[in-house]
Amino acid sequence: MVLKPMFLYLSKNKVLNRGAKRWGLKMGAKQVIAGVTINDAMIAVRELNDKGLVATVDHVGEFITTREEALESADYCLQTLKAISETGVKCNLSLKLTQLGLDVERELCYQNMRKIVGKAEELGNFVRIDMEDSAHCQQTLDLLNELREEFPHSVGTVIQAYLYRASQDVTDLQGVNLRLVKGAYKEPSQIAIQDKKEIDDNYLAIIKQHLLSGSYTAIATHDHMIIDKVKTFCAEEGIPKTQFEFQMLYGFRKELQETIAKEGYTMRVYVPYGTDWYGYYMRRLAERPQNVSFVLRGLLSK
Ligand code: FDA
Repeated sequence: MVLKPMFLYLSKNKVLNRGAKRWGLKMGAKQVIAGVTINDAMIAVRELNDKGLVATVDHVGEFITTREEALESADYCLQTLKAISETGVKCNLSLKLTQLGLDVERELCYQNMRKIVGKAEELGNFVRIDMEDSAHCQQTLDLLNELREEFPHSVGTVIQAYLYRASQDVTDLQGVNLRLVKGAYKEPSQIAIQDKKEIDDNYLAIIKQHLLSGSYTAIATHDHMIIDKVKTFCAEEGIPKTQFEFQMLYGFRKELQETIAKEGYTMRVYVPYGTDWYGYYMRRLAERPQNVSFVLRGLLSK
């Protein structure tokens, strides 16, 4: 499939990324990005809540290279937590450590995270650290463990089933609220499974592993086959609906999201917002090139 590498390549293009910040939401991005301001995000979350869905918001950002940018990003996260609390919407926060300065200076990133997770704890909320490419995986887990010493219940992360290390990481993180995903980045065969069926099998295996350990599990996938298998497994094992949730991205499989919520499961929608939408949008197109129809519709409607 030639489109996947092309979109992944485009997602890293700094010139287009900079241009996109000035254009506003274009090329059909409105279908999958809630808007550019915190207020846009809160309106989108309220609409989801009205349909019985909960949410997690992410202020999208790419290529943070300076302390100032990292501090600005941290401030956005704090403002977002405040807005969630003030509006009373059912929503938590997702973020990426590179946005908060992980590649600039680890200590800066850690201090930013302490402030954000501390604020979340004060407001009774929760912070999910998205997992980025494998170069950041161990650093993310180390930082998570440090934060958990101070805030054991207010922070969690993501484990990617395509990594050979996934099962060991799930074992090490027993008791931690984890989001489990298949994995979105292009990783080499030395460290990651390449075959789709094998990734699916490992995905289901780590989901069962975390659920059986009694840990809270967020199953983040648009794959109805996996979702059905998880529902059956939990029913058979007597795992209560309060011990897990399903998650999907904003704008994807909306009908299925609502059906799952109506069945009494927690269905959380990942709501991205912000001017720095370009890289996020290209990665979504890489995952599912059929979504190019978003782009075409977006271009035709302007
Ligand atoms: P996949 O793309 O494997 O599709 C499987 C099947 O599901 C398809 O063949 C089709 O039948 C059906 N399907 C999928 N999408 C559909 C659609 N839009 N419409 C109709 N049918 C569809 N990754 C990462 O590396 N780090 C992270 O932190 C996160 N975080 C994250 C949060 C949330 C809420 C989600 C949903 C996903 C992530 N991911 C992620 C991305 C994840 O790793 C993965 O790349 C994508 O979810 C794509 O894989 P899926 O499991 O959704 O299905």
